[in-house]
Amino acid sequence: MDAATVKPVRLTGLAALRWAWRFASDPLPGTRRAFEALGPYVILAEGLPLIRPGRVAVLGVPLVLTAGAAFYSELMSRPDRWRGVSLLPGGPKKSAARRMSSGMMRLAGEQHAHYRKLLVQPLRKTRVDALTKDMARLAETEIASWPIESNIDLWDHVRRIVQKFAVEFLFGGISEQSSAITEMGCRMMERTWDRRAMALPVNLPVTRYGRIVRDAEILERRLLAWVAAKRGHLDEGDIASVMANSRDARGNPTDDAAIIEQLPSLFGLSSEGGQSALTWALLLVAQHPQVEARLRDELHGKLGGASPSLDRVGELPYLDAVVKEAMRVLPPVPLQFRVAQQNTAIAGQDMPRGTRAVLNSYLTNRAPGLYPDGDVFRPERWFTIAPSAFEFPVFGAGPHMCPGAWFDTIAVKIALAAILTRFRLEFPSHTRIDYQTQPTLRPRRRLGVALRRNDAGATPPTPITGAIRDLVKLPQ
Ligand code: HEM
Repeated sequence: MDAATVKPVRLTGLAALRWAWRFASDPLPGTRRAFEALGPYVILAEGLPLIRPGRVAVLGVPLVLTAGAAFYSELMSRPDRWRGVSLLPGGPKKSAARRMSSGMMRLAGEQHAHYRKLLVQPLRKTRVDALTKDMARLAETEIASWPIESNIDLWDHVRRIVQKFAVEFLFGGISEQSSAITEMGCRMMERTWDRRAMALPVNLPVTRYGRIVRDAEILERRLLAWVAAKRGHLDEGDIASVMANSRDARGNPTDDAAIIEQLPSLFGLSSEGGQSALTWALLLVAQHPQVEARLRDELHGKLGGASPSLDRVGELPYLDAVVKEAMRVLPPVPLQFRVAQQNTAIAGQDMPRGTRAVLNSYLTNRAPGLYPDGDVFRPERWFTIAPSAFEFPVFGAGPHMCPGAWFDTIAVKIALAAILTRFRLEFPSHTRIDYQTQPTLRPRRRLGVALRRNDAGATPPTPITGAIRDLVKLPQ
């Protein structure tokens, strides 16, 4: 599809408000319904309310809902025209929350290139590949502490393992201080995207938003103390150390302000996507016995049964297909946002500066020509397709494409293999799973699951109810 040939549907007044409301209430079904009813290019024109920290304003520019490779290619390739948004909240003038709300996704040009360069060494493929033995060891140690024959919160347990990967291998090693700071950064990002916080973005002691603003002050103090200890000792695998010991884009030593602008959002970025990817992959595998059986055969055959050599996960084609397919049907970051930096155009239609565009990877990953039966979890499809990043934008695309894609692909595979070679997951009867986008796709409530011994026979999958069924086909 060529974006230039797609005719937009432009809505104003009440119709625009209605679709904007649907989108704001539940963005994935909201955009899916818009896509089905109106097509992949919907312009909700002027006059929509815009909620910003401290004020509710009227958005005098369009909100554009798009999906599809052509739109990804057009908007993601031009960061000078279309800037990303902050993952953190912004806040009152001179507050830590305001100072943190920059982040790499809002940068373009030289400054952006400068920070991307700093991430190259810690996230380099050869470094990640050399780390797989250590990653496997960490995964096995962590999973060995999971209580067999007990009911756990899967989301919470997955968080622990994924966050440990990030802290140990990207932020200088696990310590009380680094773990606490990473956790604070992650929760800050999560709470920023909590609609209840942003529905009342007023800085008062009793509001959720007020709590975010206060916690940002604490995070800033702790973060700067932690980074101060890293100055003068360069560790090339530690993102915080690399930043603290580098020069900024103008050649001056990186000061505290630059650290505070860049580091906090990196904590969330480095953990939350992997947590989402691994949780949904486990659910989807448990819900598809034939996939599970084939995956277990591959793990057993290629890695060895009792003590699998998880560092060889990179050689397993079916595991690779399962992880890709899980991220296709339930993308960890299902939406990307862009703001026009100048008067520009989308698919030949003029757009004023300030236009907000929402790109939808959930829908892009269902393009019928490339992914027939798009709601069906079918890993085998990956043996015959090789989509471009614009056609499969789970890690974004273009100059802001995720630099952590290889790290987390390996991390998720290792953790998935480690869990499946030890346990079978059994969801209790009457499991209901609703989800939210915050900004990663996650279960709305506790996700209880029983851990059974691996040698226990396979049981039929538990029928799952809840809104998750609107996103993916699951067995009845
Ligand atoms: C499964 C795991 C992950 C997923 C699904 C994911 C997804 C994404 C996506 C979709 C973007 C682009 C956002 C946009 O353009 O609006 C992005 C950007 C980014 N991600 Fe990831 N990510 C993951 C893991 C990681 C990890 C482990 C790191 C490590 C630090 C990381 C660091 C970043 C950074 C720094 C950016 C911004 C890049 C830039 O602006 O140039 N991500 N990620």
